Amino acid sequence: MQHKILILNGPNLNLLGERETEVYGKETLAGIEKALTKAFSKIRFEFRQSNVEGELVNMIHAARKKQDGIVFNPGAYTHYSIALRDAVAAVSIPVVEVHLSNIHAREDFRKNSMIAPVCIGQISGFGIYSYHLGIASLVRHLEKK
Ligand code: DQA
Repeated sequence: MQHKILILNGPNLNLLGERETEVYGKETLAGIEKALTKAFSKIRFEFRQSNVEGELVNMIHAARKKQDGIVFNPGAYTHYSIALRDAVAAVSIPVVEVHLSNIHAREDFRKNSMIAPVCIGQISGFGIYSYHLGIASLVRHLEKK
């Protein structure tokens, strides 16, 4: 069965490759998307990114009817967006939260995720491989159902 998965990225992730490369690495978002398409050739991906909270809410709502699940890096919204948490809770498709950096090993304000409690799980700290792990975990969850 071909799974349809939305890879959703939040604020500042459009600047990957030039932004704080010592934390987030040198890979661009387009490079990550290309690598994922190659690694998971059987999955039908939609790739979206926004710096705007409400747009991310709209994208989560839109995904509920056309996607099987979402791999979501909410960026800084992870730590304080009740609107995004409620959007994830509102849709019945499964969501995996991913982070390039290990948010638990950084500043205290990054240790808490508003979103993770309404996701099936969180993957953090493996660089771009966090996305690979997120997708693999989501597929496993979808195939168990
Ligand atoms: C991030 C971690 C967040 O704390 C930060 O605000 C980001 C990126 C990550 O992928 O490591 O923008 O989500």
